[in-house]
Amino acid sequence: APRAEKICCLGAGYVGGPTMCVIAKNCPDCKVTVADLFADKIAQWQDPDHLPIFEPGLSDLVRATLGKNLFFTTDLESAIREADIIFVAVGTPTKTVGIGSGHAANLCFLESAARLIARVATTPKIIVEKSTVPVRNAETLMRIFTTNPDSARLFQVVNNPEFLAEGTAVNDLLHPDRVLIGGQTTPAGHEAVRRLADVYAHWVPRERIITTNLWSSECSKLVANAFLAQRISSINSISELCEATGADVDEVARAIGMDSRIGAKFLKSSVGFGGSCFQKDILNLVYLSQSLGLTEVADYWEQVITINQHQKARFTERIVHSMFHTITGKKIAVLGFAFKKDTGDTRETPALDVVYKMLDEGANLAIYDPKVPDELMWEDLRHGPSLSPPARPMPLEERISHVTDVYQAVEGAHAIVVCTEWDEFKTLDYERIFGSMVKPAFIFDGRNILDHQRLFQIGFEVHSLGRRPLTHFPQTL
Ligand code: UDX
Repeated sequence: APRAEKICCLGAGYVGGPTMCVIAKNCPDCKVTVADLFADKIAQWQDPDHLPIFEPGLSDLVRATLGKNLFFTTDLESAIREADIIFVAVGTPTKTVGIGSGHAANLCFLESAARLIARVATTPKIIVEKSTVPVRNAETLMRIFTTNPDSARLFQVVNNPEFLAEGTAVNDLLHPDRVLIGGQTTPAGHEAVRRLADVYAHWVPRERIITTNLWSSECSKLVANAFLAQRISSINSISELCEATGADVDEVARAIGMDSRIGAKFLKSSVGFGGSCFQKDILNLVYLSQSLGLTEVADYWEQVITINQHQKARFTERIVHSMFHTITGKKIAVLGFAFKKDTGDTRETPALDVVYKMLDEGANLAIYDPKVPDELMWEDLRHGPSLSPPARPMPLEERISHVTDVYQAVEGAHAIVVCTEWDEFKTLDYERIFGSMVKPAFIFDGRNILDHQRLFQIGFEVHSLGRRPLTHFPQTL
């Protein structure tokens, strides 16, 4: 029988929280404790009706396990002392100041966690690098642990990257394509990898649990995200080509995706990718390559980010140009602010770039999103987009309203701009919306999710990605 492990996780965020809930649910013999410094966050996790993050299926999981074998605490030291296996799932955001600013990952939270573990642990521990880290980061952790020779033999470091996507986190964790565990190629290393594999084997088929050396595992996480993001930038670059030629990007994606060597997933053209991982991990990969003197490699991956910036910018430029080259003083309804559907997360959301560019052009904006909390939206608006910060302060409060009713957002608007692919946007009453808008009424579908022919028949001028606009005033040129 597998061991009844005592598990703890440092960091109660988007990765640590859902991962520990799924482990607790599937390993009733294990005790799982999630520890975080932020008391507010821990308190929220203790109330399944008001969790700090929104994920479909998550509150049911918490309800089923909380207080039985799942616990949340701010007492990091006790949690560490008690545990056999310690997941480190603290944030590693892109540095905003200092060396490598704008590219390198900020490793200060990770180092503090490691130092804390080294200080308080008295029994053997398996330390699981869950946070996304640069390649060879485990070496740093091992060095911190060996600063105290008495305790050095207590620690085994393994890397176990998280591949869950937000909005589908619970399902991704329950039915992963694979679980990847990297460890040292020593007997003790193999033993640590096996014990972590045994935890996952409670619900993941053995053949889907793969093991590698530490550096391959660390590297694979950055590379997986770089490849995924590259597909989006590739198809988004083709969307511009389609607009210029009369090809249709969704038709092209379908045609190439049916080639099994290419595959159909992750070829949906968009206003640009967002989220906490893609940009951060690619910048991390670029920085790593640069540090190793691999200039061409760094330039190659940097281009994925460049196309993404370009896609966000040109989408907004198209809005301005099609609306008679000016949106000054016009009301524009922004539908969706989260970086994707089924999440309230807004990190690196392309909506923020679009909103800022439209503000710069003097528009008045009404923003609607079904899940993004009010405070979070305003915080993002105050900071502005991370890679293209505004040249001057923006009159945010005067020109932006955050509305909770989508029909109020579109009332009297000149245009609708869809930034997130929320399902509910497909079934709105567009006849009613058309009736309440200024004419000509424009729709810019930044996710290609709406029924464009129908909208055109209702009377809208419809602009989508990667194809020619549907307009009642055909251009003569
Ligand atoms: C991603 C990876 O998918 C996941 O494996 C990793 O662990 C973390 O990073 P996440 O950022 O949560 O997950 O969401 P994902 O579904 O990958 O979407 C990222 C961005 O790409 C979103 O803004 C999404 O809207 C966009 N996207 C995705 C597209 O524009 N087109 C697509 O075809 C797919």
